[in-house]
Amino acid sequence: GDKDKSLADPKDLVGAELSFMTDNLARLLESGHPMLNTVSQYYFSASGKHIRPLLVLLVAQATSIATKRQGMSSMLVGSSDVDYSLIDRAVSKNIQSDLESHEMNQLIESAARGANGGLTVLPTHRRLAEITEMIHTSSLLHDDVIDQAETRRGLPAIQQAFGNKMAIFAGDFLLARASMGLARLRDPEVIEIMASVLSDLVDGEFKQLKNLEDEGAPMAKPDDRAFEYYLEKTYLKTGSLIAKSCRASAVLSNATDDVVEAAYIYGRNLGIGFQLIDDLLDFTVSAKEFGKPVGADLELGLATAPVLYAWQEYPELGPLVARKFSNEGDVPMAWELVHKSQGLERTKLLAQMYVDRAREALEVFPPSQAREALERVTQSVVTRTK
Ligand code: FPP
Ligand code: MG
Ligand code: MG
Repeated sequence: GDKDKSLADPKDLVGAELSFMTDNLARLLESGHPMLNTVSQYYFSASGKHIRPLLVLLVAQATSIATKRQGMSSMLVGSSDVDYSLIDRAVSKNIQSDLESHEMNQLIESAARGANGGLTVLPTHRRLAEITEMIHTSSLLHDDVIDQAETRRGLPAIQQAFGNKMAIFAGDFLLARASMGLARLRDPEVIEIMASVLSDLVDGEFKQLKNLEDEGAPMAKPDDRAFEYYLEKTYLKTGSLIAKSCRASAVLSNATDDVVEAAYIYGRNLGIGFQLIDDLLDFTVSAKEFGKPVGADLELGLATAPVLYAWQEYPELGPLVARKFSNEGDVPMAWELVHKSQGLERTKLLAQMYVDRAREALEVFPPSQAREALERVTQSVVTRTK
């Protein structure tokens, strides 16, 4: 809205960084097999939203001015021993594993702190942004096989283009390269945080597979437990990667504990809000705009927030949910009831509530343009149409 226009634009702060990322990813995914290169880079060739790396980079900037220990940096700032031209080159050229040692990080940090009003992106932050996007895309490659998806990002889905085997190998390969990148960060806390995302993703998929229904008698109406279960699943499948990559970014900044925690709370709430809107858009936008089929969740047997809310108003949805919309006519009937109900508005309000919590978490960060940009992202998550 108008209010947001006064806030710093994320693109102005990290747009250039993100454009480096695409090239870097292509390099990170080189292999001896031309086919593997093609398949593993396939989804990167389409224009994704890059919300996860965007957040990692903005959190990097927002938290690098709230550090625990000044360590070497403070000793080096203003020191005549520092070769600033070398550091400038390192900062602007965005690369090189030999510059990724902890010492060099600190050196670059101190130089950039002076040059850039404190809005620092370290080489390790860049690597984390790439790793996060690789983990995300890896999960999508497997997800599209599992869901037998038709399209993604406006392209034929991976397995439609290359077959299941290639899709699975490419997903594994991305995860392998992401793991190597993670190890190279030489930060055990960050490795642990990001590794735990992988089991969260599988946990979320299992929760989604196994309806709450399976555990007891069919419910007449969705109770609080049904919503809690859905929201926990939503955190695991989408919130976890966003929350934990934001946390890891703050850890790499050497931020104070309260700032690290705030980065996690921000990402967690933003991630849940993001997925709630995804579940809403599955009912409201055109497939062309979305870049993937709409109505897909019903077809997959999934009762997302819009359905749970609609079910509160229309108990006749209960049996359809229980049989995962598997009978002839179930999907169109559920679609109609969702649209007749308050389900879509209520889902949007719920998303707004999570996104508001994300915005509140930002208050722990020191004021900066990066913090403003993170605030701006919260609203764009709710108003997005793809
Ligand atoms: C998209 O959800 C999928 C996910 C958010 C996670 C999928 C996770 C796995 C397949 C577990 C394996 C993980 C790794 C890292 C290999 P969706 O199907 O609801 O969304 P869509 O409409 O975009 O397909
Ligand atoms: Mg899925
Ligand atoms: Mg899917």
